[in-house]
Amino acid sequence: YRIMLLNGPNLNRLGQREPEIYGSATLAHIESELRHKAEALGVTLDCRQSNAEHELIDWVHEAASSKVDFIIINPAAYTHTSIALRDAFAAVAIPFIEVHLSNIHAREAFRRHSYLAELAVGVICGCGAQGYELALQAAVSNLQQRDN
Ligand code: DQA
Repeated sequence: YRIMLLNGPNLNRLGQREPEIYGSATLAHIESELRHKAEALGVTLDCRQSNAEHELIDWVHEAASSKVDFIIINPAAYTHTSIALRDAFAAVAIPFIEVHLSNIHAREAFRRHSYLAELAVGVICGCGAQGYELALQAAVSNLQQRDN
């Protein structure tokens, strides 16, 4: 299977960025750990990060044309703002899991709503960097179930 990992704005600053909320691991570290896990599961993982909404949208479109089977995305602040990113997922109909490092339900009220969650296979939040691993496992099980 081909899986794409997308991380949204400010997640390139993981490790330095509010570590008490988002943890001390850098994105490069999280991505490399996840690539090893993907390899062990026999799937390919394409990891990308952008601070730009249009770039994330273009990657969702690209995922459709390049036949990506599943997307794991931490849309960061675009979670709470981007109808455009939601529409991109609706347009391509690629299954995806939404991940947040922090528990978005235990923070400011504006973080509780996600434009993407309704379309997602599932949402994992509050489990820190481990959330990405859980999402990868769940993505692979979801695809295996689909094909059984
Ligand atoms: C986040 C939560 C969002 O509310 C926030 O804007 C982020 C990161 C998380 O991973 O906890 O940038 O998606």
